[in-house]
Amino acid sequence: MSTPIPTLERLQSLHPVQQPSYADTEQLHRVIAELRKRPPLVFAGECDELRSKIADAAAGRAFILQGGDCAETFETGTAQDIRGKLRVLLSMAVVLTYAAQVPVVKLGRLAGQYAKPRSNDVETRGGVTLPAYRGDAVNGLDFSAEARVHDPNRLMEVYNHSASTLNLIRAFVTGGFADLRAVHTWNHDFVRNSGAEARYEALADEIERALAFMVACGVDKEAFRTVDFYSSHEALVLAYEHAMTRVDSRTSTPYNTSAHMIWVGERTRQVDGAHVEFARHLRNPIGVKVGPSTTAADAVALADALDPEQEPGRLTIISRMGAGKVRDALPPIVRAVEATGRKVAWICDPMHGNTFEAANGYKTRAFSQVVDEVNGFFDVHEELGTWPGGVHMELTGDDVTECVGGVADALAEADLPNRYETACDPRLNRNQSLELAFQIAERLTDGRIKRVNPVQEYAAEDF
Ligand code: PEP
Ligand code: CO
Repeated sequence: MSTPIPTLERLQSLHPVQQPSYADTEQLHRVIAELRKRPPLVFAGECDELRSKIADAAAGRAFILQGGDCAETFETGTAQDIRGKLRVLLSMAVVLTYAAQVPVVKLGRLAGQYAKPRSNDVETRGGVTLPAYRGDAVNGLDFSAEARVHDPNRLMEVYNHSASTLNLIRAFVTGGFADLRAVHTWNHDFVRNSGAEARYEALADEIERALAFMVACGVDKEAFRTVDFYSSHEALVLAYEHAMTRVDSRTSTPYNTSAHMIWVGERTRQVDGAHVEFARHLRNPIGVKVGPSTTAADAVALADALDPEQEPGRLTIISRMGAGKVRDALPPIVRAVEATGRKVAWICDPMHGNTFEAANGYKTRAFSQVVDEVNGFFDVHEELGTWPGGVHMELTGDDVTECVGGVADALAEADLPNRYETACDPRLNRNQSLELAFQIAERLTDGRIKRVNPVQEYAAEDF
């Protein structure tokens, strides 16, 4: 779409939901003016490159791995934390690349995932009621009146933290940290200590042999050393997202330069709402989350609004149905959107439909339900003959205790208090994330999903 981006005032006239309420609007306008002058965090050409990779996922020629924190925070975004998340994502990507036999598009919930939609505007503890935490972009996590004030200056900090996070990621992924051989060694270490060695060892060994084969064939060492990695977040606070939008000089089209891809969340996806109106004018690849209340007609209306030109790679539909609902709720949506003739990337968020409160009050998710939703998603695509284009996870590289289950750690509800560190939703820890990758790999290699044959395609191109 090459239509001009609507003004922020126009978006505000649509009464966007889930927005901060600032007491000092003059300060907000100063911050917005300052952000508009800041250099872009990502470049239009990179967003275009990602769009064509997502088009591959829509066509069954790539698989998307999107993951990171539910909520990044200014405090925890240290080098160690970023390295840990990258490491686990790269580890998962190697296993998935081998299993899917297609490139894995690596997309972080990183370098901008600082704003959270909330079900309640307020939070009450011990008789005290305060504004809910809405992510570091808006207010502080501390349960104090001072921290919970909505402060526009935080948007400047979002920019600064996103810039430093992205800078480190760019260095890591090109500087040797992502070397396939090192990543494979991490995976081997996981398998050895996973408690499920027998189950995963064969796959890890096959990957090892595949690497040896590539080395023997003389595959360029450089190809092992670097990976492409992209940033993404929910585009929630419109003042920030709008201020980071720039018109690309080459194409005269608007790009949100705060991330390569942005998505519209389940709570802000009203087809006539401000978030969809904003996102539909952007040239970036766009995601939209759909929960179990989404009808086939809703999904088609969203696809028509966000992808009017039916451009492959433009739209990713991220379903988050819940393990018990995915097998019934997803098929009508996939059928209806496919019937429009467009190709979207279908990806599964098995996290947000599977949250529950443990008996001890912790918000958690069960690893078994996460696996079950992913399997349900694969079942649906197997049945319909469509390609399961990827997964969307909340995870961290640390050994946190936020989700229960998993073979390696076998976390019980009683373990949750040990290292419950998330600022928002519970994340899979490193072992649980890798175990999930191995389980998805098993599902991708069991021969049930209809897929392209990359070797035949390659051969057809060259001979
Ligand atoms: C999220 O991704 O953290 C989130 C809030 O998801 P959803 O919009 O699907 O509820
Ligand atoms: Co979340």
